[in-house]
Amino acid sequence: MGFWCSEVVIAVVIAALSTVNAQNLAYSPPFYPSPWMSGNGDWAEAHEKAVQFVSQLTLPEKVNLTSGVGWMQGNCVGNTGSIPRLNFPGFCMQDSPLGVRFTDYVSAFPAGVNTAATWDKRLAYQRGNAMGNEHRNKGVDVQLGPVAGPLGRSPDGGRDWEGFSPDPVFTGAMMAATIKGIQDAGVIACAKHYILNEQEYFRQPGSVTGYENIPAESSNADDKTLHELYLWPFADAVRAGVGSIMCSYEQINNSYGCSNAYTLNKLLKSELDFQGFVTSDWWAQQSGVGTALAGLDMTMAGDTVLNGTVPEWRIDDMAVRIMAAYYKVGRDRYWIPTNFNSWTNSTFGPQHALANMSYGQVNYHVNVQANHGELIRQIGSSSIVLLKNNGALPLTGHEVFTGIFGEDAGANPGGPNACADRSCDNGTLAMGWGSGTAQFPYLITPEEAIQTKVQSLGTGTVQAITDNNALSQMAEVASRASVCLVFGNADSGEGYLTIDGNEGDRKNLTLWQGADQVIEQVSAHCNNTILVLHTAGPVIVSDWDNHPNITAILWAGLPGQESGNSLVDVLYGDVNPGGKSPFTWGKKLEDWGTPILTKPNNGAGAPQIDYSEGIFIDYRKFDRDNITPTYEFGFGLSYTTFEISDLCVEPINAPPYVPSNGMTKAAPSLGNYTSPSDYVFPDGFSRIPEYVYPWINSTDLKASSGDPRYGLPSNSYIPPGATDGSPQLILGAGGAPGGNPGLYEEMYTITATVKNTGEVAGDEVPQLYICLGAPDDPKVALRDFDRISLEPGEEKIWNTALTRRDVSNWDPVTQNWVISKYPKTVYVGNSSRKLPLKAELPLYAD
Ligand code: NOJ
Repeated sequence: MGFWCSEVVIAVVIAALSTVNAQNLAYSPPFYPSPWMSGNGDWAEAHEKAVQFVSQLTLPEKVNLTSGVGWMQGNCVGNTGSIPRLNFPGFCMQDSPLGVRFTDYVSAFPAGVNTAATWDKRLAYQRGNAMGNEHRNKGVDVQLGPVAGPLGRSPDGGRDWEGFSPDPVFTGAMMAATIKGIQDAGVIACAKHYILNEQEYFRQPGSVTGYENIPAESSNADDKTLHELYLWPFADAVRAGVGSIMCSYEQINNSYGCSNAYTLNKLLKSELDFQGFVTSDWWAQQSGVGTALAGLDMTMAGDTVLNGTVPEWRIDDMAVRIMAAYYKVGRDRYWIPTNFNSWTNSTFGPQHALANMSYGQVNYHVNVQANHGELIRQIGSSSIVLLKNNGALPLTGHEVFTGIFGEDAGANPGGPNACADRSCDNGTLAMGWGSGTAQFPYLITPEEAIQTKVQSLGTGTVQAITDNNALSQMAEVASRASVCLVFGNADSGEGYLTIDGNEGDRKNLTLWQGADQVIEQVSAHCNNTILVLHTAGPVIVSDWDNHPNITAILWAGLPGQESGNSLVDVLYGDVNPGGKSPFTWGKKLEDWGTPILTKPNNGAGAPQIDYSEGIFIDYRKFDRDNITPTYEFGFGLSYTTFEISDLCVEPINAPPYVPSNGMTKAAPSLGNYTSPSDYVFPDGFSRIPEYVYPWINSTDLKASSGDPRYGLPSNSYIPPGATDGSPQLILGAGGAPGGNPGLYEEMYTITATVKNTGEVAGDEVPQLYICLGAPDDPKVALRDFDRISLEPGEEKIWNTALTRRDVSNWDPVTQNWVISKYPKTVYVGNSSRKLPLKAELPLYAD
């Protein structure tokens, strides 16, 4: 009996731990009406042109701009309707953040995480610009990238690699540079997935095997966490002029990402004064009227708006925002017809793949790669992080016997594009899987590149074993080789595809393909074993770091098509490694303290993911809990040595911070709303099956909308204030794209001297961190960085600055940024834990 009792107690305790209190669910407050575009910042001209254009449109034409025509009904992953009367073809929206998805003769760029690892804003810009050019030349209007969500709350998050880094300032800088690059090429960038889209499990209703009836999870974060962590890089995206933002699938504080009036209307469109348009992630629109009122401007599902519940000014605003983005990046000058089709590689095929209709030429096989291979190779080598080096690297080129080991060194036997959306991990890994991919035009494997190098040097022999089961052959070759290069990888991707039980998010932080066995075997027989890692994020390498026979470790990430060449450049010292880790390498998954939720915890309700760690993710958490990582955030070695000295901090007499105030103008209405009879399908119109049209079936709006609430008083389901087009209050923290311009005023200039004290030229990345001083602030938080090239003996002065935002905290009470009274310290060094220079900031309390 006693035993039975204790069992019950345990069951109750477990239940309490694994479920949430349904009465006390996190809540997302309403914020209405949805802000209308003002033309603020440098949007005035684009706004004016958009107003002119939209003023000519009928309601169905406006609706056409705001709605997708349906999946696989156009050339691109998303197409809006067209306006034939004005010769306007509609928008082509195409993945991905690393190249043009689903077509040929394009480049496969290094992933976002590699771009981050270069710590080079110039390279981030160049990559963005090159990708933008490729999209433009294929006839794409909107490139669906870059990514700041996931930010990287969990190291095993499936899509972390599509973005940059779990540090918000760092990701913000990379977002801004990438967006500018893409948009300077005449293509609209789309910053995604807004916001708290941090895991694949449960991101969509019914998306997890075995839990098909479970709604999408709710990511629950408080206002401070939202502002200081997850919203920060989106603020930088908006400030950089991003034309569109994609709202996310999951719920935020129990309100869906694409109908969340707080995150869309308040944070994005009011506080950040975002002037472009919000598009839904594909099928992420969970309601019709509700999403329009909550700030969604473009949907890939289409909607009916004629029952008078969505005010006309809101439809106008959607269309104006969309067209303003178009003019802002010069689409009117750069536009060319889409010359590929996402749904077939053949030259001829149906224009409407889903309906299998309108057969003709759909692919023109336009080669848009230009000389981007060179940039890809450069980003690849610049992103390599040298994690350990006992003098084994660089190779001298005189090695008599080079051994190459591991499946990850070789080719995928089915070819580099063998698996749809890269949904297998065969051979070397150069990008993750899912919609964030592109076809490889070619993929230089490490095996191929190293062999070519050894052969060209003419000094030795090289043997590669890429079958990870050939352990005895490996032992034999390893015991004779002068250097043993061992390869391992770990993949991750988007949740609609599963590899080896990994439903997007990784199941663990170990290596794939049985690589650990290979490393063990080779290092047991070769006392000069160099480990090369192609991983989507951190893996557990503490054993290898401590292993005496492992003389060097390199992280090469997901480098894209030039993988092998980029690696060879670093291995043989043609490029001196200068990459730094954009994330922390812990010793076990628990070190991060932010696990992926893989089991429902709210009965049949939405799983609740409480971001109770607040702003303490990645290195901030390791620092707070005094956990020693294997390699810290910002860490990376070089073939030379550097010294950083002479930190100098000078306050600038910045003007006092003035919260924005006043009122917006009233919502403009651009007219042309006639009567329902003008909106029915034209007589004799022949429809393409499943195609989404802007017209309605009959003038009986109730029947046409199919909305059971039709005819009910609108205040029974329309949130208060949602249809109010009168002037609205400007928020104190708002007032301009990116937020109150005072936040970006410089308050301190900072300089430090960086010197190359070694024998070879190389790049160093000085990093500026701050401690804001309150007990709940991180020990240190990154504020700026630069990548500086130095000849042996050369020194350069690094100039940087701290803005008001950099020295402020978000105050949920006043709903603004404030400089706290706590003493603040700045640090400069070359990793989050190597910060030899330190200075107190002269106090400057608001
Ligand atoms: C869903 C993904 O989450 C998003 O990133 C992508 O752009 C769309 N699908 C379109 O493929």
